[in-house]
Amino acid sequence: MTENPSIQGVYITTYGCQMNVNDSERMFSLLELSNYQEVQKPDDANLIIINSCSVREKPVHKVHSEVGRYRQLKKENPNLIIGVGGCVGQQEKKKLLSDVPLLDFVFGPDNIDTLPSLVSEVRAKQERVAKAKFDYQSPYQVETLVRNPGVSTFVNITKGCDNFCTFCIVPFTRGRERSRSMKDLIDDINKLVERGTKEVTLLGQNVNSYKSDCGANFAQLMKTVATDTDIQRVRFTTSHPKDFDQELCDVLQNHRSKLCDYIHLPVQSGSSSILDRMNRRYTREEYLEKVKMIKDTIPGVSLSTDIIVGFPGETDQDFADTLSIVQEVGYETIFAFKYSPRPYTKAAKFTDQVAEDVKSARLNQLFAEHRELGFELAKRYDGQVLDILVEGTDDKREGVAHGRSTQNKLVHFNGTADLIGKVVPVRINKVAPNSLKGELQH
Ligand code: 5AD
Ligand code: SF4
Repeated sequence: MTENPSIQGVYITTYGCQMNVNDSERMFSLLELSNYQEVQKPDDANLIIINSCSVREKPVHKVHSEVGRYRQLKKENPNLIIGVGGCVGQQEKKKLLSDVPLLDFVFGPDNIDTLPSLVSEVRAKQERVAKAKFDYQSPYQVETLVRNPGVSTFVNITKGCDNFCTFCIVPFTRGRERSRSMKDLIDDINKLVERGTKEVTLLGQNVNSYKSDCGANFAQLMKTVATDTDIQRVRFTTSHPKDFDQELCDVLQNHRSKLCDYIHLPVQSGSSSILDRMNRRYTREEYLEKVKMIKDTIPGVSLSTDIIVGFPGETDQDFADTLSIVQEVGYETIFAFKYSPRPYTKAAKFTDQVAEDVKSARLNQLFAEHRELGFELAKRYDGQVLDILVEGTDDKREGVAHGRSTQNKLVHFNGTADLIGKVVPVRINKVAPNSLKGELQH
């Protein structure tokens, strides 16, 4: 528990993507300015927030069961208030308050900055409140708020999405796309560098459609970050294949030492007819052309992807097309999910939903095939010396440090805490299916 009695404990659980992890950090930062301090156990908190995600699976279910676990705490501590933020908050709004009587407040991703006043309002008025309004008017201006920026930090560059893929709830929960100004971003990154950050990951639902108020596009932003800041490494996620262009490839190649040899390019499916029904706005062939452009311009770049199996109407042949595109592209990493119908989305209303057991079998087969492929591809690193940005040391094994190569591969090697934050050469001497091991080069 906190030592100063006027300081109250806040406990936040986070589900979902990096965007949500970053949002929780923002909540902590804002609440610390209003006399709250993070606690490690819900028992020590006067404020509990569930930062939810509704992109996949049963998010409302999860919220119900988590809030249920706090029933006893609420009985014991009359000062305890519980809120739900994030995409479920946006999706359910007031309805969540009526469905979950233990909840005190609900808020959406666009209302995070009002969190301290929202919490004060709930306490002062002893009322239950739902705030889930999009701010459509003002430009997207936020300073990156992180309490203790580590070696690697996330920076939001856009919010929302205008693409409306038919499976995806994000355009409904995070609203229309907005970009932060390039000047603000450069200032933000320079401040993080001063505070010791070595790597930033630029975040957006579709970073490629970034557009600064000065007219700069994503390629120009990347180039400016590479040339006008002292950050050592820059990553970005997520890219939409339809907007990935030659200009961006050229910038990535020309500033390769800083901009990393890793691109996450979600394909979702290898079948053109499924891609059409997903409203992805590219065919299998067009996607493969983008991959060729990337590989031709940035030889040796590492690729990863997101895949959905069991999208409505997906036949055995469509799924076979997904398996074959995985082999053809040669992704080092895949993130694959069973299709899950989401509220408000078009695909949820499609009548040819795929049976759950078929989805599970396809997901297993995809993972099994990729496990072998990923292992084969990782063998290219054997014997190579990779530049590793050291992120930490192992808690359990003394003298073992870990970090990432520019290809985003996690590498364990002999190293000590004084190396954290430095880029060091490590010769890879063991390739396992999920990890690389190596020897520090002096
Ligand atoms: N069902 C399954 N996976 C989904 N994703 C987004 N919406 C759904 C859904 N309804 C996946 C996509 C996306 C990733 C972030 O989550 O693959 O790229
Ligand atoms: Fe969702 Fe498609 Fe937007 Fe990505 S691009 S957030 S999948 S709607």
